[in-house]
Amino acid sequence: MAPYYITTPIYYVNDRPHIGHCYTTLLADVAARFAILIRGSADGVFFLTGTDEHADKVVTSAAEHGVSPQAWADQNAAEFRKAFDFMGCGYNDFIRTTEPRHKEKVVRYIEALQKSGDIYQGEYTGWYDAGQEEYVTETAAKEHGYKSAINGKPLIKRTEPCYFFRLSKYQGELLKHMEANPTFVQPDSRRSEVLGRLKQGLNDVPVSRPVTDDPATQWGIRIPGDPKNRIYVWIDALFNYLTTVDTPERKQLWPASVHLIGKDILWFHAVIWPALLMALKRGDSIERVDLPRMVFGHGWWISEGQKMSKSLGNFIDLERLKAYAGRYSLDALRWYLATQGPIGGVDADFSHAKFVEVYNADLANGIGNCASRVSNMIAKYFDGKVPAAEAGASSVAEACARAAAAAPARAAEFDLAGGLHQGIEVVRAVAGYINATEPCKLARKIDAEPALKGQLATILYNCAEGVRIASLFLAPAMPQKMGELWKRWNCAPAAGFHLGELAKFGGPHRLAPGTAVEKGDALFMRADAAESAPGKS
Ligand code: MSP
Repeated sequence: MAPYYITTPIYYVNDRPHIGHCYTTLLADVAARFAILIRGSADGVFFLTGTDEHADKVVTSAAEHGVSPQAWADQNAAEFRKAFDFMGCGYNDFIRTTEPRHKEKVVRYIEALQKSGDIYQGEYTGWYDAGQEEYVTETAAKEHGYKSAINGKPLIKRTEPCYFFRLSKYQGELLKHMEANPTFVQPDSRRSEVLGRLKQGLNDVPVSRPVTDDPATQWGIRIPGDPKNRIYVWIDALFNYLTTVDTPERKQLWPASVHLIGKDILWFHAVIWPALLMALKRGDSIERVDLPRMVFGHGWWISEGQKMSKSLGNFIDLERLKAYAGRYSLDALRWYLATQGPIGGVDADFSHAKFVEVYNADLANGIGNCASRVSNMIAKYFDGKVPAAEAGASSVAEACARAAAAAPARAAEFDLAGGLHQGIEVVRAVAGYINATEPCKLARKIDAEPALKGQLATILYNCAEGVRIASLFLAPAMPQKMGELWKRWNCAPAAGFHLGELAKFGGPHRLAPGTAVEKGDALFMRADAAESAPGKS
């Protein structure tokens, strides 16, 4: 089976982790967990995140804090790691661009491109957006009144000696690749955006910055053979996806299955990065440089209807996220972010009212209530043990079969919310089945009509098996809560089996009759919509 290698952007270390960074990394975590579930094994699944540390801003911030750039990067990279650990993200590696294992290989790649002529020396004059560490085209600069489209600060006119990457040469090949591979850039709205721009033509891009007496210019990887120039931070950063796995043990992981990114950095990933890989391949000096299979650009989170900005002070920062996790549980936060986030084309609003609505509907009144109703009835009528019953046709079994077929398809399209929602569909089917079959009413008739006990057993068996199967689809977003349910119900999925086998209703992994099903406390307490948002002063 082909490996599943998923990456997140590597984050600038001068920022503090916030909802944006946590969201992208969480989505990658959910995708990796889905991949493990669908394959039935963690072998060949690799999830990479990390930090982008050679930005000029690192030197300035470090100086402001009276520490060396490396010490500043160390300290902040550790904050990102802690944030992602807190979010329960099980990344397999955390790459930092200041690590020798990265730097050494970047130098090798640049050397190869110099040799093949795809990197050449020239001079560059252009509009520079210092906040984004990027040059803006004349058209884009004019369009925004020569101010940054991102933070509104004036752009700076700069001229510098420079190395260029021959991007223009790859326009045709890129177009051909995008046309032949409609899912290379996703979602479709992003693909159209890239195609539209690509058709307008490509200019060669600068890939170096000069080194001067200014300490900020001395931070970064030097151009091989020319220590007066250093590699532009974006080029250095993009290579992380390859440097991390360009080792004898890991090279079979390439090409990446998904580069998950935010829409703001689409051009770098959908055009510049693939062109660099094409050039490397042509240079024939690196072994495995096929193009990534998919670049997926999600939208942005906004907060209570407004764009998040430092000036508005409305950033959903890590403290706010921790406050949500503290009140509603980490898995509830993960669920909200993963299912309500801007994964499709449009931005999503982090709104407290919406959080509570989704929490109550999907979790407290959804899987939580369904699991406790079923375990309560099993406790009451069957001594807490799953009753013996034959798996026959039922609306619950049908819902499980539909969900098992749909979930892998959704996950393959990177519709993670759609994959997770299969669990909710099954929960709904169980709740509907309980309402239709009225097991409590039936139980009251058993004294007079003992033969009805078999019917009750079948109903409760179907419900319990439905809850078990629902939990499988919910687990990539809520590993802790579903782990808790599996512990209580003695139904942890057996290792080494894939979703198709595990989710078979009444199949070999079913809730075997006689299995003890413990009631326990509510998995999710109901939330009071009138209570104010957590973590807000
Ligand atoms: N260092 C570059 C990426 C280099 S990748 C080779 C960078 N870093 S960043 O720290 O600014 O992080 C950018 C990423 O954070 C975005 O692409 C997106 O994934 C995430 N987000 C930042 N703010 C966001 C929101 N408000 N909403 C959702 N995600 C956003 O760019």
